[in-house]
Amino acid sequence: MTEDQERWWKEGVLYQIYPRSYADSNSDGVGDLRGIIDRLDHLAWLGIDGVWLNPITVSPDADWGYDVADYCGVKPALGTLDDVDALIAAAHERKIKVLLDLVPNHTSIEHPWFRESRSSRDNSKRDWYVWADPKPDGSPPNNWLSGFGGQAWTLDEVTGQHYLHNFLPEQPDLNWWNAGVRDEFDRILRFWFDRGVAGFRIDVVHMVVKDSLLRDNPPATEDDHWMVRLTGQRQVFNGNRPEVHDVIRRWRAIADAYDPPRILVGETHVFDTGSMLSFYGAGDELHLAFNFLLLHSRFEPDALRKVVEDTFAGIPAESWPVWTGGNHDMYRFPSRWCEGDRAKARCALMMLLTLPGSVFLYYGDEFGMPDTNVPKERLEDPVGKALYPVYGRDPERTPMQWSPSPGAGFTAPGVEPWLPLGDYAACNVEDQRRDPDSMLSLCRDLIALRAAVSDLRTGAYSRLAADGGLWAWRRGERVVVALNLGDDPARLEVANGMVRVGTRRDRDGDRVEGSLALGPWEGAVIWLDEAQA
Ligand code: GLC
Repeated sequence: MTEDQERWWKEGVLYQIYPRSYADSNSDGVGDLRGIIDRLDHLAWLGIDGVWLNPITVSPDADWGYDVADYCGVKPALGTLDDVDALIAAAHERKIKVLLDLVPNHTSIEHPWFRESRSSRDNSKRDWYVWADPKPDGSPPNNWLSGFGGQAWTLDEVTGQHYLHNFLPEQPDLNWWNAGVRDEFDRILRFWFDRGVAGFRIDVVHMVVKDSLLRDNPPATEDDHWMVRLTGQRQVFNGNRPEVHDVIRRWRAIADAYDPPRILVGETHVFDTGSMLSFYGAGDELHLAFNFLLLHSRFEPDALRKVVEDTFAGIPAESWPVWTGGNHDMYRFPSRWCEGDRAKARCALMMLLTLPGSVFLYYGDEFGMPDTNVPKERLEDPVGKALYPVYGRDPERTPMQWSPSPGAGFTAPGVEPWLPLGDYAACNVEDQRRDPDSMLSLCRDLIALRAAVSDLRTGAYSRLAADGGLWAWRRGERVVVALNLGDDPARLEVANGMVRVGTRRDRDGDRVEGSLALGPWEGAVIWLDEAQA
């Protein structure tokens, strides 16, 4: 890939759209592809270079699109293949690339492959899924647990064997040892690449290959990340197998054969830096591997800095990090990291947009959209329903808040959206566009600064001496980013320069003479008078 071809995803700003919740063009309460087309001007105005859409393929929606029943068809509620083509073309006019979501680990229980597979033990598709006999006492084949709770196995009464599902029973895992499965996915990748899709975000990419001997997972230990300890076992055998890298390399070869080459972004939901980075391979696997250590970090300088610096220390020279503050599975960062505190959210946004690497914003991040409290009777997420009131994924999936008018600009007034609207009167795009001091204006100005200043896109990171809540680093030769992530005022010793963008906008243009004072939860991007070695 030439430098020109990789600029959009390396140096640019990417944006995740949850299609059901972005914009409803036909007033049925559900967002759709036409709605996204209608809103592309917002993304162009903001300075976005590429979008990733959560699954738009045919699905009975046991897990909202992540249970796929047809990988090459569009879900009618969202639109048609023609709409996808129109979206790609309209995005292209605005220099925006379109990434789709690929779900290779599992299908829907209603996928024709699974219907065949479960019909008899000698069906030709039997081996496309992971089937195993119960233990002699009738219990499941091994101790694997579903990521959504409970056993990862369900007994199929008809054929007397269990099938594997690392998620819901409605999401049977494919058997990636089977050559037919591999061939079929080659075809699926090409189907979308041929239509002009710029790449894929790949769902639970680390999991697709399972232990061929179906060995028991070992227990978690005290040394494991808290996310690992949550289930009580290490996911060593129900995923994370070394052979997954062969599969990714195979996809990479397909992506590389296109002109321009397509890109692969992985949901590498792992909790040590080394295994996350292993998915870059030797520049022959993923282009970007999502960093869940950052997503699951506390919003404290020491914790954040450790994740970021561990990543830089370990990442292969030819690979490129990617940062994100949220997604459709995590509470939104203005709530999760920042507890609704606007000053903190502005610091978080500044961090994401000024670290070296790609960045994905989740829709709404650009104006600090918080989580929406979804009452029990309105829950749609299967995990949320099972774990209510402890955890759920609906609060971060509610409709985009475009305007303060009824329907929030998401849908027509009087239409009840599929998930309830948040407090759109208090927080919406339209009002914030008019306000130069808003989070939306800050976001747009930071993106514009990134586009204008090469040090912010490609300059190396070097940490500057700072204590307390202060975290400061230089980018390249001329830029310094200083974030005071603490409740006390802080002071940074720094060469002379000027504040280009501050989280407090009244600081923009301030001179910096040898040091910069920052109030609690305040950040600034400084342009130095002279290049530093
Ligand atoms: C990924 C998706 C999540 C989904 C799960 C199972 O983690 O991001 O939304 O529920 O995979 O497909």
